[in-house]
Amino acid sequence: MSARVAILISGSGSNMVALAESMAGDHPARPVLVVSNRPEAGGLAKARDLGIATAVVDHRPFGTDRAAFEAALTEQLEAHRPDILCLAGFMRVLTPAFTSRWAGRMLNIHPSLLPKYPGLDTHARAIAAGDTEAGCTVHEVTAELDGGPILGQARVPVLPGDTPEALAARILPWEHRLYPAVLRRFAEDDRRPVFLP
Ligand code: GAR
Repeated sequence: MSARVAILISGSGSNMVALAESMAGDHPARPVLVVSNRPEAGGLAKARDLGIATAVVDHRPFGTDRAAFEAALTEQLEAHRPDILCLAGFMRVLTPAFTSRWAGRMLNIHPSLLPKYPGLDTHARAIAAGDTEAGCTVHEVTAELDGGPILGQARVPVLPGDTPEALAARILPWEHRLYPAVLRRFAEDDRRPVFLP
């Protein structure tokens, strides 16, 4: 039986596409749902084009009530009985109640070499710090923001004159390689980290 994967997005969904396209053939998992907290997320149409069920749980009507938002999200997720959740550019902070419900079953990709630069503006912070390398990390999601066990990293150089946009564009293709590689291992219950290139 294939592991059932739900992918959570907020934006363009390029990592979602990389994950979804990787789950084919002898892959041990299959995508069962793409859910966005933003109705206008470009990734929703891409998911539909890939034949994946989609759902929207707009966070805005819930205001600051994160628990109510997450209850609505959980209802959508549970309807598709996922074994694994992949956060792929999902830009909402999750409560400890949600992260503990999915403990050991939820992955995230973050555009920095964690533990450096959890949170936002990772590329600008790496450049401002004078770092000579940057990259991306896939990790298990715990209650600590961007803090769970690291399951993979890909490194790229920071080049002289880099802008945050240029660095992000250099890292993104590595996100698309790293996340599928980690998910495949994870779905096979293999927790050894993946290091790229
Ligand atoms: C990716 O770069 C991902 O690492 C980042 O958002 C982008 C989403 O792009 N995630 C975070 O910053 C999480 N804090 P995508 O929608 O094209 O996959």
